[in-house]
This record gives sequence, structure tokens and C-alpha cells, in this order.
Amino acid sequence: MSKKTNTEWKPIRKAVFPVAGLGTRFLPATKVMPKEMLPLVDRPLIQHAFEEAKAAGIEEFIFVTGRQKEMLEEHFDYQPELERTLEARGKYDMIERVRTSEIGESQLFLTRQARPLGLGHAIWCARKLVGDEPFAIMLPDDVILSEKPCLQQMIEQYNETGGNMVAVMDIPREDTPKYGILDVESDNGKMASIKGLVEKPQPEDAPSTLSIIGRYILQPEIFDHLSKFETGAGGEIQITDAMAKLIGSQPFNGLRYDGHRYDCGSRVGFIEANIAFSLQDPEIGHSVQDIIQKHAKEIQSKAA
Ligand code: G1P
Repeated sequence: MSKKTNTEWKPIRKAVFPVAGLGTRFLPATKVMPKEMLPLVDRPLIQHAFEEAKAAGIEEFIFVTGRQKEMLEEHFDYQPELERTLEARGKYDMIERVRTSEIGESQLFLTRQARPLGLGHAIWCARKLVGDEPFAIMLPDDVILSEKPCLQQMIEQYNETGGNMVAVMDIPREDTPKYGILDVESDNGKMASIKGLVEKPQPEDAPSTLSIIGRYILQPEIFDHLSKFETGAGGEIQITDAMAKLIGSQPFNGLRYDGHRYDCGSRVGFIEANIAFSLQDPEIGHSVQDIIQKHAKEIQSKAA
């Protein structure tokens, strides 16, 4: 299958964050503010994705932004006035928190996707910044609660297999029109070797119920296919279609990661994520648990 041996696959140093989307499901909250700035407990969605990538050893963070997204780069900048104010007030713990949102100098790179032509097009927009090396893609709408960061789990596997990899999860068959779906060659329960990929198939056409979630490791050859600008599902340039074209010439695997994924692109998923993440928070977890129990009792007594 692959012409390269494992030792020839380059390490993953860069991650692309497509953040040009409009976030219409959260209007009017996202009328002016980027959807990636919606807070999940105490940090914006984009910071969750950034921290996961950083913990996995990523050194260069590439944002594909668009109009009205300036707040995203500001968020990751050094804010001296704020730090001085916090220092004057003796709030050193807050300074530490603020610093979790700082991307080091010459580690953040920005490019723009001027037209909303699809996820594949957004990734293509990053081609010059990625260059000739493999890279990760992080979709900030997908937030994963796990002990070991999802991307780190993937990179550890990648170091064994090389090639391309997507994070995957089993979904109910009726949900296949929402996801990229795997056509599986072999599956050991943890890793699935992929022989085909279909973007958002109808349930009756779906080759499996194993879906892609928003973490990818791709080889730079993906850009050869993306640059053809072929449109697919929804009339958009789909990353899934370009990935399907790599199959056969390079290894392509799906990893069932350990963890739970929340779809923060939907209002219900976002609320569920806020509940799950806040329950884990050492400061507010207990209070949130009390609130949930109180509401559950109210719901039960109303139903009785
Ligand atoms: C995108 C991808 C899809 C993937 C999904 C995961 O779809 O195109 O293959 O399964 O992310 O969240 P979107 O959610 O942007 O429609």
C-alpha cells in the first residue's frame, strides 16, 4: 500500500483551525462575536481546541479566519494592561489563567477564507502555511472531554502507523447525513482501516455508522486534491472527498479515541458540554451538581 516506511513519516508540528464559519445557529449571540468565542465554562471554544493541540505537542497554530473574526487573534495575544491591573490587585491566580490563552510569539499564523466554499476550501486556504509536511486539523465545534487529549491519542497512533488519520465514533444510523462516514476495510475495535469515505450520506446509502469527528491528521498530498476545487455534498468543496482520493496511495485509519465528544455547533450540544465540563470543574462542580439535582426534581414532580 504505502511506499513510505514508518520512519519516513514526518512528525506533526502544525495544526489548522478553520474558524471562518458564521455560527448562524447561535444568532443573535454570534451577530458580532465569532461563534468560536462562545464560552465553555470559562474559556472560549477556540481555546479548548488550542489547549488540546498544544498539549499534543503542536508548535504552530494556523487559523483560517474571515470577516469579523479579529477577536480570535486578540484573545491569544499578550494583554499587558490586563496583567498589570491584575498584578496591582494581587490576583496572581487570574494572571495564570489569562496566560493559558497566550500563543507564543511566531507560533500563531493567520490566513483568510474570503468565500464560504466549504471545509475543504478552508483547509486549502492554509496550504502555504502548512507547506510540505503533515498537519492536524482541529474543528473547534467538536469539543472532546478526555483524560488524554484526543489529538495526543491520535499522534501516538500516527507515530506507529504514519499516513492519515481521523478521529471516529459510532453513531446511530439516522445521523449519517450529519457526518463524514467511513467505508471500513478492517476494524480491530480501536482502529479501523479505511477503504472509502462519504460525506453526509443518507442512512440507507451509508457504508457504515462510523463517523468522522473534527480531528484529522493529513499528509500534504491532500492539497493536490483540494486544489481541484471539486464540489460535493451541499455544493461545497469537502475535505472528506479530497481525503477519499488519498486512500490507496497512503495508509488511512480511523481511531476510536477514549473520551466523549460534544457537538458545540448545536445549541443542545453546547449546553450539554457546559454541563459536563462544569461538573468537572474543581471550584464550581459541586454547585452545578446541586443545581442539576434541583432541576431534575422539579422536572420529575411536574411529570408526576
Ligand atoms: C464536518 C465534516 C464531516 C465531519 C464533521 C464532524 O461537517 O465535513 O465530515 O463528520 O465535521 O463534526 P460539518 O459539521 O462542518 O457539517
